[in-house]
Amino acid sequence: MTAGSTGSTADGTHPHGLRCAHLENPLAVAPDRVRFSWVPASAQRAFRVIVTSPAGDLHWDSGRVDSASAADVAYAGPPLAAGERYAWRVRVWDDTGSDSPWSQTAWFEVGAEDWDASWIAPMPTGEPFDPPGGPEPFDPLAASLPPAPYLRREFSVTRPVARARLRVTARGLYEARLNGQRVGDLLLQPGWTDYARRQQYQAYDVTGLLRPGANVLGALLGDGWYCGFTGFDAKRPGYHYGTAPALLAQLDITFADGTTQRVVTDDGWRATAGAIRHADLLMGERQDASLEPAGWDAPGFDASGWRGVTARPRDATPLVPDPGAPLRATGELSPRSISPRAGGYLVDFGQNLTGWVRLAADVQAGTRIRIRHGEVLDADGNLYTENLRTARQLDEYTAAGGPAMFEPHFTVHGFRYAEITGLPEPPRAGDVTAVVVGSDTPPAGSFDCDVPWVNRLHASIDWGQRGNFVSVPTDCPQRDERLGWLGDAQVFARTACYNRDAAAFFGKWLDDVADAQLPSGAFPDIAPRLWFTEPGAPGWGDAGVIVPWTLYLMYGDRGILLRHLSAMTAWMDFLERENPGCLRTRGLGANYGDWLSPHGDHTPRDLLATAYWAYDADLMARIGAAVGRPDIAGSYQSLLRRIRTAFRDAYVRPDGTIRGDTQTGYVLGLRMGLVPDAAVAAGHLVRVLERDGWHLSTGFLGVSYLLPVLCEYGRADVAYRVLERDSAPSWRHMTDNGATTIWERWDGWTAERGFQSPHMNSFNHYALGSVGEWLYRFVLGIEPAEPGFGRVLLRPHPGGSLTRVSGGYRSVRGTIETGWARDGGEFRLRVSVPPGMRASVRVPSAEPERVRDGDGSPPDRVAAYPGAVDALEAVFETGPGAREFRGPALPG
Ligand code: BGC
Repeated sequence: MTAGSTGSTADGTHPHGLRCAHLENPLAVAPDRVRFSWVPASAQRAFRVIVTSPAGDLHWDSGRVDSASAADVAYAGPPLAAGERYAWRVRVWDDTGSDSPWSQTAWFEVGAEDWDASWIAPMPTGEPFDPPGGPEPFDPLAASLPPAPYLRREFSVTRPVARARLRVTARGLYEARLNGQRVGDLLLQPGWTDYARRQQYQAYDVTGLLRPGANVLGALLGDGWYCGFTGFDAKRPGYHYGTAPALLAQLDITFADGTTQRVVTDDGWRATAGAIRHADLLMGERQDASLEPAGWDAPGFDASGWRGVTARPRDATPLVPDPGAPLRATGELSPRSISPRAGGYLVDFGQNLTGWVRLAADVQAGTRIRIRHGEVLDADGNLYTENLRTARQLDEYTAAGGPAMFEPHFTVHGFRYAEITGLPEPPRAGDVTAVVVGSDTPPAGSFDCDVPWVNRLHASIDWGQRGNFVSVPTDCPQRDERLGWLGDAQVFARTACYNRDAAAFFGKWLDDVADAQLPSGAFPDIAPRLWFTEPGAPGWGDAGVIVPWTLYLMYGDRGILLRHLSAMTAWMDFLERENPGCLRTRGLGANYGDWLSPHGDHTPRDLLATAYWAYDADLMARIGAAVGRPDIAGSYQSLLRRIRTAFRDAYVRPDGTIRGDTQTGYVLGLRMGLVPDAAVAAGHLVRVLERDGWHLSTGFLGVSYLLPVLCEYGRADVAYRVLERDSAPSWRHMTDNGATTIWERWDGWTAERGFQSPHMNSFNHYALGSVGEWLYRFVLGIEPAEPGFGRVLLRPHPGGSLTRVSGGYRSVRGTIETGWARDGGEFRLRVSVPPGMRASVRVPSAEPERVRDGDGSPPDRVAAYPGAVDALEAVFETGPGAREFRGPALPG
């Protein structure tokens, strides 16, 4: 979707990192999504954006706008022409009134609106589409799956080409080909949406792939989410959206002489089946290389034996440019070891990941190679696949003979280990590669400390994110589920945004969430919604408010708030209609409670639900203010007050105990600001932690706030104590037992009991990795002081056995770094603040008034930690640049 790198470098004075709709030089943006962002190289007080038309004329000049906003600036010029490219640049004015040079030029292309293409699919002839040939599949289920259609169309080009754009989508998955070459590097396109409501397409610059004379446009199709196995509703043909894949493509060529030519999917295309005997996201892919029609996607191939296609005109389903992060291969791993096992070879890639295996093999024709994938090994060292439930994760290849490279097209697996059978010789390490596949979200955060397992925890959280960000944020990448669960996404969203630039990725998924909203106004449990018709459970449905807010906080993206405002207010109306008494006891859907709490979930579910409702109301009040709607802000402030009163009356006793007396109860009461006396509630939280042996007893929901709340209330010592517990339930238990991604369950495997129930035991579920947020916000101490990081709060919390920590975050306003060390009685903090950003640095110290910055200057003031029980800190207000602070360390 993106090309070029214009405007992405800093030279120190001009704005850089130019993005449109959160993407670098996008090839298709919906006109109403054209919003700009850049990183100013100085404190910005005003900006000016200029947009140039395709002819090179001035199209829009924002004029000088007095605003510090450099993120999410809406285009406000004359209408933009569909399919055209516009260039843009920006300059800014700083505090002193001096202006920056113009940025380099960036561009965006507007999505197409004039579609002549029809949906095409191989014509049913009464004959089986799968021509005879090829061995029976290993897996009987596979025998029922259809082969992948191959589609092609010849056309000729008679004049020199100036520019060509291919816009393409599928019901199912597509891989587009032009003159024997794969178009672009994207995978699993067009991604997953509710295809009945929104079909997204991708645009490619194919100018360089056309040639004079005969040309061939082709595509392979896979079943994908459209008509393959999707979720745990394994009743294939489940056909959640349709029963067979189809292609829609339009190639627009502009010649050097200004004339144009359009090639579309229509009844002039031809179809056949080839090497891909079946391809399914959950089940795997089976290829018979001897059936590949060699040269089918290049001119000169004789397709007279191919069948025709049926062409159906487009229906009213909106076709929209893909606004999300591109799905592609984001890395490759070599085997850590290859050992003989189960009549074949067991390959260990050393890392649980999502993707597939690419295998180079030079074997005789007819050799059948089978690759099974699993996350862990059983007690005997064999591949463990019971936890996949009905998903097979099995790829099979029948060789055509001679050197070949085997790799699937339309499946994806969650695995660390691959078991390869059928090879006559052991594979060499260079022959086997794990290809990491997912939504490509550029890294944004880094973390390093002197305690190795904590670094491994951080890495596992990021790997879990990579593996589960596959078009939508999924719960897990391996078993027959892989659904966009809202609860998992909301607890992890903040961590995700610190780890990686997830603005475009979540932006797309929030469209899925909006499409999934029920007529009642309720957000559901999953998006895309599939067969779910219940309101989302507390903590799940609330993601419809929490995730947009999180994006606004991290990226300053007001566009997200505006786009989803009516969906969010409809959700709030639903909750209020259901619960006029201000306790959330109805409209709870599947009501999962504090899902997967160890030792049973003792937090009263209506308490948890009401706390989340209060949080929604609080966020809605802030959202109302952010979008300039004081009326909205006021009405949700008043709702929040009413819920808070009802919460206190129903759940908080005079001695400050909260009904259920659970960690999650106190955490939610504190986090959502619902308790009458925070210090008393914080004391109770510490008491129940001690009662629970300093083990956490929180599930998916409680865990995300546990350590942050402890730090916020001055008990970083307790937060570290919980973090560093090594027996289950704890993060360290997973990490010490070989986790390279976060487990679904605290006790996914224990020495006493072995594996948890195979019915629900994923080793790659990011939800419990929401502790990543704490590592960035509280250990490194990097926190936006205002949405979009116009100002930053740098407030690290040293503790536990960590004595040295360093890391950073590439915010939309530039990279922020912190590093601290405790040496003897001294605490040293280094910070680096990017140009144009102001920071409030808060240095924790036993004697804050003795803290000094590098110049020997004393703090601007000494403050009690806001909200904290008894912590003090030295406060320095600083601007851009690197600084170091030193002072007496806190005890411990
Ligand atoms: C999923 C979870 C999800 C949950 C709902 C599970 O099957 O894997 O991550 O949030 O259902 O309780």
